[in-house]
Order: sequence, then C-alpha cells, then structure tokens
Amino acid sequence: MPSPTAWERIGRFFRERFPVEKLSYDELVRKKTVPIHRRSWGYYTGGLVLLFLLIQVVTGIFLLFYYEPTATDASSSIEYLTHYVPNGEFLRNIHAWSASFMIGFLLLHFLTTLAMKSFERPRELTWLAGVLLLFLTFTFGFTGYLLPWNQIAVNATKVVLQSLVQASTFLPGGLARLPLDVRLALQGGESVGQPTLSRFFAIHVVLLPVLLAIILGFHLLSVQLLGMSQGVDTPAKRYERFFPSYILKDLSVWTVAFFVLFFLALSIPFASFLPYPLTEPFYALGPTPAGIKPEWYFYFVYYPLELLPFPVILAGMTVIMIGLFLIPWMFRKSSRRALTALAVAGALYLLIITIFGHDIYQLVRGGS
Ligand code: HEM
Repeated sequence: MPSPTAWERIGRFFRERFPVEKLSYDELVRKKTVPIHRRSWGYYTGGLVLLFLLIQVVTGIFLLFYYEPTATDASSSIEYLTHYVPNGEFLRNIHAWSASFMIGFLLLHFLTTLAMKSFERPRELTWLAGVLLLFLTFTFGFTGYLLPWNQIAVNATKVVLQSLVQASTFLPGGLARLPLDVRLALQGGESVGQPTLSRFFAIHVVLLPVLLAIILGFHLLSVQLLGMSQGVDTPAKRYERFFPSYILKDLSVWTVAFFVLFFLALSIPFASFLPYPLTEPFYALGPTPAGIKPEWYFYFVYYPLELLPFPVILAGMTVIMIGLFLIPWMFRKSSRRALTALAVAGALYLLIITIFGHDIYQLVRGGS
C-alpha cells in the first residue's frame, strides 16, 4: 500500500501535467497566446493532422452508406460505389488521399515536436497520448486496407498475420503464445475469411474511432491547458493571441490544404499509383499476386523486413516502439540541436526508404 506521500506525489504529477483548474473560457480562449519564432510553423502541423482526420471521419461515414462488410459483397459494393454512384469515385479518392496526407503530416508533427523538445516537462503525457495516436493511426491504415476485399488486400493481410506466427518462434517461453493469440483474435478462425473481415471492419469503424476520440480529446485538452511549448532555446520575444489571430491563420492553412486535397482527389485517382489492379475481387483459388506491397506509409518497415533477417527487425521494432514512449525521460537533458539532428536523421530515413526503397532492394538483391 503506497504511503500518503506517494499518493500526494502522484496527484501533484497529474495536476502539473493536466491542470484542470485552467479549464475556463478566460484561460483557454481570451488569455492564451502562441510564441512567434523561427520554428513557429511547427505549431501548424498538429492542426493539419486534425483537418485530415476530420475529412476521414466525414468521408468514412459516406462510404459506410454503400459499403457491405461481407466477403461476398464487399468488393462489388466498392465497384458499384466507384462506377455507378454519382461522385462515388471522388469520395473514395478523397478518403485515400486524405489518409496519406494525414499520415504524412502526422510523421511531420511527430518529428517537429521531437525537434522542438515539446515533450519537455510538463508535456510528457501529451507526448505519450501522441505516441498512442501514432500507433492507432497506423492501425487504421492496416485495417482499412483489407475492407475492399480484393486479391491484393486479402493476400497482403495474410502475409502480415502470418508474420505473427514467425514472431512467436523467436519469443521465449509463455511469451511465444502472445502473437499467436493476437493473430487468432484478429483472424477469427484458421484462415483469413469472413470472421476476419467482420473483425477488421468493427475495429476500423468502431473500436479505433472510439479509442482515437478519447485519446485525442486528452491530447488536445492537455495542449490547451498547458499552452504551446516554447519550441526554441531562447524564450520568444513576441507572442500572438490564440484567439482570433492564431485561429485565423490556422483556418487559412486548413483552407489551402483542403483545396490541394480537393483538386488532387478530383484529378488524380489514388489507385493510379498502385502497380496492381485494386478492383480485382478476392478469389480464394487464385495465385498470390507477384510483388504485393503495402501502402507507401508502411515501406519504412516493409523494405527492412525484405532485406534484413526477421529477428533483427523484430528486436529493432520492439526497442523503437518502447523507446518512443520513453523519449520524454530519455532525452530530458538533450539539447534542441541534438534532437533536431535526430529528427532530421529520422526524416531522411523515412524519405529515402519510401522513395528509393524499391531501388535499394534491387541493388542489394542484385536486380531480383
Ligand atoms: C491523430 C494524431 C494527432 C493529432 C490530430 C494531433 C493534434 C495536435 C494539435 C492540434 C496540437 C496543437 C498544435 C501543435 O502544436 O501542432 C498538438 C500538439 C502536440 N502534439 Fe499532437 N497530434 C497527433 C499526434 C501526435 C503524435 C504522434 C505526437 C508525438 C509522438 C504528438 C505530440 C504532440 C506534442 C508534444 C504537442 C505539444 C506541442 C507544443 O506544445 O508545442 N502528437 N497535437
């Protein structure tokens, strides 16, 4: 039983990181200011993620009007929406483009908050909530991929679920059961089939949105209660009012981003970037399509998996995933300069592996 002083310390820890007494119109709107400095642009990245998330929610609801979550009808319901529903293709296109934008800006937001040391006390919980949002967003991408139930989606999902079996062979003792149980829970049976589709659908449209709403609510409220972090070494000399000045600028950035998305979705079908026909319905006796690849935002783990031994990637991913949660404490004493170097290295890795992953793969594998 912890002593009262331990409870007091826990209470103080949470009150400092989530000061509910500031929950007033005066504190959150009238008095709030935003620092102006050479890195102020970083403050817009979180808002952009929010914009694309809202677009996902709205377009996702419209997609639900037509989508049938059954192995027999999923593919044809998408086909119908694309070719026979007025603006159906546009709707799908916006959902796909906006998912990519959301993940792109999420990675930028993650890297800028790292470089600006925004996780510094008292914002550790804001950061932890952010890491959870990062994982949830990638899970959205993974579960959404299966829903059209086409040849490529089903086979790619099989490959990922199969890698859990592979992971279990490298884990010691009772821990080895964990990936197998996760696989069974997701798959809902011996192989990928209707139970898998039902589960992925429920996770994608109910479970993840609920979890995201709760964690994002905490993330945004903590940012409001604590105010924007300083972001640079010497405290800013100038500040602007959050309302209306910063909000108006934020809305202008949203307007530009929305129109860019709108015109891209109108003029370039997202599927044109994919090297295989997305619409081919799943056929259980058909072959696994050659060269199946995940969406671009999974390349950072897909190409290393293709090139390096599985246990290396498994160990690396585990360390990185745990490390992400510990960043506020691991880098407590690091300078912004060192963190910026780390963020730039991370950005370069992501850019190089995403753009040149295939070439690197061919170079290493001798053109195979
Ligand atoms: C769905 C995903 C997310 C959304 C919608 C979101 C949204 C936001 C917004 C609107 C802000 C305030 C404006 C800004 O500083 O950019 C913010 C701040 C912040 N976010 Fe996120 N965020 C998400 C994920 C993340 C992730 C993945 C991290 C890092 C692991 C993170 C860390 C932070 C931190 C530390 C702040 C405070 C910044 C400051 O005070 O200067 N967020 N977020």
